[in-house]
Amino acid sequence: MTQLERRFDSRVELSLADLQSVAEDLLKLCRGLDFGQLGLQEAGPGQELLHKLAVSSKGGPSIYLVSDGPGVTSQPHEHKTWAVIVGIRGCEINTRFQRVVKDSRQVVAVDSVSVGAGQLLLMRPSEIHATSVLGEQATFHLHLYGSALHALPPFQSRCFEASAASDPAGRS
Ligand SMILES: [Fe+2]
Repeated sequence: MTQLERRFDSRVELSLADLQSVAEDLLKLCRGLDFGQLGLQEAGPGQELLHKLAVSSKGGPSIYLVSDGPGVTSQPHEHKTWAVIVGIRGCEINTRFQRVVKDSRQVVAVDSVSVGAGQLLLMRPSEIHATSVLGEQATFHLHLYGSALHALPPFQSRCFEASAASDPAGRS
């Protein structure tokens, strides 16, 4: 935990190149781990589980293993901190959005990317995404955030309203 806090000052925004470097290190680490041996519960249908692997008590960089069950979706939201997500098992569709106008809480979808085993997603603090589990397999995805989730504003205050007509995935 101390190493994480020392390496990343959560007040400093990382560049995309920094995030890519962090993501590749995390992916290497994940390849050497057998997550099954950790005995962490996998989510059932419609269930969302957050396993805290290394959480900074000071609100700094923190790692979680997220398991989302089949059918789980999230509404468009921002994190207000940088994030690196590594797919371990299962597949999640990430739809990225942009604001209709500056400072608007209304957003339109820009594109969608899938994050499956061995794939990465990098997010800067102001980026907006929504997620949807693809298929019948629960996901296990590793999430490294620049700030611990308990130090972020409440989830609902970080959410946006999507314009359904623009969703490239066809979801409402
Ligand atoms: Fe998110």
